[in-house]
Amino acid sequence: MGQGSSINMSLFTGKNILFGVTGGIAAYKAVDWVRSLGREGAKVTVVQTAAGAKFITPLTFAVLSGNQVHSDIFSLGRDATIPHIDLANNCDLLIIAPATAATIAKLAGGIADNLLTNIALATKAKIVIFPAMNSNMYLHPATQCNLDKLQKFKYIVVPPEYGMMACNTEGPGRLPEWQAAREYIAAAFCRQDLEGIRFLITAGPTCEDLDPVRFLSNRSSGKMGYALARVARQRGAEVVLVSGPCHLPPPPGIEIIKIRSALEMYEEVHKQAPKAHIIIKAAAVADYRPIRRQEHKIKKGGKNIDLPLTANKDVLKSLGKMKGDDNRPILVGFAAESENHLAAGREKLKAKNLDLIVVNDIASPETGFAAETNQVTIIDNRGSHEKLPLLSKEATARLIIARAATLVISTS
Ligand code: CTP
Repeated sequence: MGQGSSINMSLFTGKNILFGVTGGIAAYKAVDWVRSLGREGAKVTVVQTAAGAKFITPLTFAVLSGNQVHSDIFSLGRDATIPHIDLANNCDLLIIAPATAATIAKLAGGIADNLLTNIALATKAKIVIFPAMNSNMYLHPATQCNLDKLQKFKYIVVPPEYGMMACNTEGPGRLPEWQAAREYIAAAFCRQDLEGIRFLITAGPTCEDLDPVRFLSNRSSGKMGYALARVARQRGAEVVLVSGPCHLPPPPGIEIIKIRSALEMYEEVHKQAPKAHIIIKAAAVADYRPIRRQEHKIKKGGKNIDLPLTANKDVLKSLGKMKGDDNRPILVGFAAESENHLAAGREKLKAKNLDLIVVNDIASPETGFAAETNQVTIIDNRGSHEKLPLLSKEATARLIIARAATLVISTS
């Protein structure tokens, strides 16, 4: 496999995903999900119920998935195979989105009266179900009782979002957008081996205000910290994310605490730290802030202007000093370096009493702030290091989380 393909490697690459679409208006969103899964390298095969095909034509799904769409239980498959058994046996995951109240009721009752419900009974693969319907239908005790049953049958039931519905009522019942749905689907491919482990992760830049309109900040996008939080959550961990200002969507299932300045970051991290098993500080915290935030906008004056700055407290260093005899919590720092990467990383690890430090080269366009990819070196507290290849930020996060988790699991 060439380097280019490993950079783009996702959890979905090479996976056979069966995608069931039932008859709800939210089926239009499933079009985007099918396309997005395909872009990440999954082989997606769509199965539509008759009602599902009234909303989106099979042609649309066939073109976007690049595969034949199935809906007829009585047509024989390739080599005269029985379609529901053939499809059920050859998938890594079955997704049903949107799942209507009727399909949910059928599945809860074990009724197999169309291709999709037959596949759901026949498959040994995990099933992730995304209910989406009018709020009253969703909240009806019959639907709730059916969803409880599905959970007992080991279906992964993803709660719908709250919001405005196509029928102009507001409440729970909306199908999530792809970015959120993706997290639940990714989790279905992960072992839930970090359940009970609490991560505190920081992400993004801090903003140090000069006056009501201006601030000092840096180019951190938050992508690396958010990827770490998402990956830990996908493996079942409890995650608190302390985030500086950035434009990333809040990942589902994660408690997000928004902060603005380094001082606020310090306060929040110290409040949360006693509950954490692992703290990962991916945030780019400003080292200095203006001595005083001016109450009114600073006016244009002479040719030069003085901006007196004062040092911010080092959050990570302070956590390192507070480590107990049991070496808890595990502390993972980041080191943004443009030269002497290894030496600078080792120095920071020692000075801040860390377990691991992740050094990244901010000078390269593929690894710097806001890039989609990263290439890091992980150094441990015995001085040994491991250089990871150029990978997507999510793939990099997967390796960092795995490394940090072994430190907790090995000492518990
Ligand atoms: N860090 C922190 N509080 C600060 C500054 C940095 O917690 N006030 C953390 C960062 O989140 C990161 C690590 O310390 O995990 C290293 O940050 P970095 O900016 O690379 O190094 P600094 O210690 O700030 O040193 P320098 O800027 O001189 O390289």
